[in-house]
Amino acid sequence: MTGNREEFTVTPWEVRGEVNYERLVVEFGLTPLNKDLYERLTRLAGDTHKLLRRGVFFAHRDLDWLLDKYERGEMFYLYTGRGPSGHTHLGHMVPWFLTKWLQDRFGAKLYFQMTDDEKFLFKPELTLEKTRKYALDNALDVIALGFDPDKTKIFLDTDYIGFLYKIALQFAKKITFSTVRATFGLTESSNIGQIFFTSIQAAPAFIESIITGKNVPCLIPLAVDQDPHFRLARDVAPKLGFYKPAILHSKFLPSLSGGGKMSSSEAMSAIFTTDSPEEVRKKIWNAFTGGRPTIAEQREKGGNPDICPVFHYYAFIFEEDDRALGERRKRCLSGDLLCGECKEDLIKRVTNFLEEHQRKRERARDIVDKFLLRGEQTF
Ligand code: TRP
Repeated sequence: MTGNREEFTVTPWEVRGEVNYERLVVEFGLTPLNKDLYERLTRLAGDTHKLLRRGVFFAHRDLDWLLDKYERGEMFYLYTGRGPSGHTHLGHMVPWFLTKWLQDRFGAKLYFQMTDDEKFLFKPELTLEKTRKYALDNALDVIALGFDPDKTKIFLDTDYIGFLYKIALQFAKKITFSTVRATFGLTESSNIGQIFFTSIQAAPAFIESIITGKNVPCLIPLAVDQDPHFRLARDVAPKLGFYKPAILHSKFLPSLSGGGKMSSSEAMSAIFTTDSPEEVRKKIWNAFTGGRPTIAEQREKGGNPDICPVFHYYAFIFEEDDRALGERRKRCLSGDLLCGECKEDLIKRVTNFLEEHQRKRERARDIVDKFLLRGEQTF
């Protein structure tokens, strides 16, 4: 999606520029997550999550329909995934945090797709050996977040293709090349695996219905760049007799170097789950902020938290308490809080989080097999 005023692009394979989410809602045809629906979700969940409260999850498709079904006793399942092109960074985990909360609150099953095939097809430099290695590595991050081992299955596409292929084919038969080309911006010179791939990403949105032999609602929490896949999946679903999957869309955790989504390719722009305390310190100290060029000027005019990635790190992940976040914002705006102090505090929080996460990640190695699906296995 390329805008004309402030230039930005959001596709499943490229996110560039300063994303205007309001425009994205219009251009993608999403429904904004309004107060009524937020309150309904909060009531049914029994509490709220900061990513919902703070509008990080900002849009949806058919969440109201999914909750109608739930209230009438039709349980839904969750589906999300990861394109394993490298180590996991904190931005990747934003939808996973909400997915974990949804699993806890609703007792929902989760299918987690590792698209090792996708990253092989779309990244010229990656081999299947590498994408498999990253997929298994990234699975440790998923497990470390504490997903219920009895209710969560993770699969690599290349391991689980035996099961996925039959579902993917049903889709492939209903989607034309011209639709895929227009939806994803593919060209005559795109490799032919790329053209087929969307049917593999669609497949898990119907997996429970296939396994149980009756329609089961599916909810997909994702970062908004993945929406185009499910726009197609939703178009095709009724033609195959399936429910359309419901979607919950999140914004991107901003890049530490300013502007756009954190990129796995630009090491300094993101904090990876495998980073050492030294790397965390260096990255946060080098981060772009909403601060002024001099301390005197900042004391006088204040900083701008709205454009500051450091502030967004607190809002998205590292500050649970709304009052404390509001206080930090006020102190920044008034010039009372300087960037150095704000960064120092964030370094501590990120380091503590990663220390714990890395421990859980190591422990996950012992149980990863319990989570993985292969061949034609199901839950
Ligand atoms: N294509 C996604 C990525 O590159 C991975 C993915 C697969 C996914 N299935 C998904 C993401 C479902 C969200 C929801 O990261």
